[in-house]
Amino acid sequence: MKVFTQISEIRAERWQNASLSWGLVPTMGYLHQGHLSLVQQARAENDRVGVSIFVNPTQFNDAKDLEGYPRNLERDLELLEIEGVDLVWTPTSEIVYPPLFQTYVEVEQITRLLEGAARPGHFRGVTTVVSKLFNVFQPHRAYFGQKDAQQVVVIKRMVEDLNFNTDIVVGAIQREADGLALSSRNVKLSPEARQQATCLYRALTQAQAAYEQGERDADKLRRMMLDVIGQASLAQEDYVSIAHPETLAELDTVEDRALFSMAVFVDGVRLIDNMLIP
Ligand code: PAF
Repeated sequence: MKVFTQISEIRAERWQNASLSWGLVPTMGYLHQGHLSLVQQARAENDRVGVSIFVNPTQFNDAKDLEGYPRNLERDLELLEIEGVDLVWTPTSEIVYPPLFQTYVEVEQITRLLEGAARPGHFRGVTTVVSKLFNVFQPHRAYFGQKDAQQVVVIKRMVEDLNFNTDIVVGAIQREADGLALSSRNVKLSPEARQQATCLYRALTQAQAAYEQGERDADKLRRMMLDVIGQASLAQEDYVSIAHPETLAELDTVEDRALFSMAVFVDGVRLIDNMLIP
């Protein structure tokens, strides 16, 4: 496994044999099984697998959140080596954003809703860094987790709108046995908060069950999710949403397809989760 910081090194490795297919898994490090399942999928579908590890400052709108983001490069590299990754890019902020940097990629409407409303500028940072990653690696396929459902919708929109020559592959949400979606932020939960954090998955599965029993009124389904969250004393919802899976517009009635999603603070730790219906 080769680990480089410089763009020229990544490019030289990438183009050593132009006929090979490349899969890229973009990450911010502190890897867990959710990332590793994407790496495994990339390994199975490509001749070569690249992973980027970069805590991207432009997607954080809270300096404390950026500073406190968990990091463990040594362990990440050990895990990636075991997965048979070929190439890892660990750039510095100065390499990604040199001093005169002033060019951003921005997807419009769909980035202003949900996570975008709660975290202004977040998706501008994501789409900018992902564009840069695509330009550096020029991967045939790039792998993202469904856990960040809106990120997937936004990146697919960007790829289509800007004609990137990369297929977006989406990996299923990886969960703990009790349903909590895997996230690098879970380490911040106290034991009590960790227990209560299952309220996100419980809320989603209850709404899903109601949908399956014929409930189509989106407001009733939203209220059902809010009730479950309300029962967890340490939990406070940021938003719950029942939206169209591509436009992300809130629905009145769930016809055939919908994205059920939510962001919840559990003892101050902001967690997100979602479910695609059906
Ligand atoms: O999902 C993430 O970890 C990040 O948003 C990504 C895609 C690596 C961009 O920094």
